[in-house]
Amino acid sequence: MKKSKYVSKKPDPEGFVAYTADENAVWAELFNRQMKLLENRACKEYLDGIKALGLTADHIPQIPEVNERLRALSGWEVSPVPALIGFQEFFELMSNKKFPAATFIRSREEIDYLQEPDIFHEIFGHCPLITLPVYADFMYEYGKLGLNASHKDRVMLARLYWFTVEFGLIQTHDGLRIYGGGILSSYGESQYCLDSDKPIRKLLEPVDAFRTPYRIDIYQPLYFVIKDFSALFKLSKLDLLAMINEARALGMHPPLFEPKIPDDGRFL
Ligand SMILES: [Fe+2]
Repeated sequence: MKKSKYVSKKPDPEGFVAYTADENAVWAELFNRQMKLLENRACKEYLDGIKALGLTADHIPQIPEVNERLRALSGWEVSPVPALIGFQEFFELMSNKKFPAATFIRSREEIDYLQEPDIFHEIFGHCPLITLPVYADFMYEYGKLGLNASHKDRVMLARLYWFTVEFGLIQTHDGLRIYGGGILSSYGESQYCLDSDKPIRKLLEPVDAFRTPYRIDIYQPLYFVIKDFSALFKLSKLDLLAMINEARALGMHPPLFEPKIPDDGRFL
């Protein structure tokens, strides 16, 4: 597993973290900038989730405060983790309705881009949609499936996670909208994914997604689109392990990018 240059801040016994004024200022800058951008780009369920969690520009959210609201809305909670975690811990947490989040925030020098998932990515990018029961149920089913899967099947499942939870787009009456947390927390990609004519956008089909390689350090050349969130939940009820075998038998699609970093199934 890749080593992070950041170290998570240790919560006190009540779960609160003492962030500095500068760290809170970085959050405020990120929050304000994204909220302005996402108004007509993020799906409505996500924007509703921001309000339901009570997220504001004021300060970095404290996990116990987020959890009080999240528990009431979908039965989930956020679980603080040191930094990057392995598959086993990730799937154990998810199958217990706990979403892992590192508690550090990016430095000002990396405000536009960093490879490690920080608290802005985890809380701002992912948690608003976990307030939505049908989405939270998908995450739970995915966690249970991953917990019982072999390592090589987990690598394939990570690919599905990448193309949905991290970089998914959704059809709405108002056109395409963003629901993937990797996009929602990225200033550049939240514009590129909808505005650019470069990327391919196509309906999500699991076998197809399992066969598609990705890179974590570039704007995505391809986005998978879902029709609605119940389609995502229904997908979790399919025999995904059989589909993984089918994908493996068919082989990987040729990459739409120059290879650089191996696709090792790491989560963002
Ligand atoms: Fe993520």
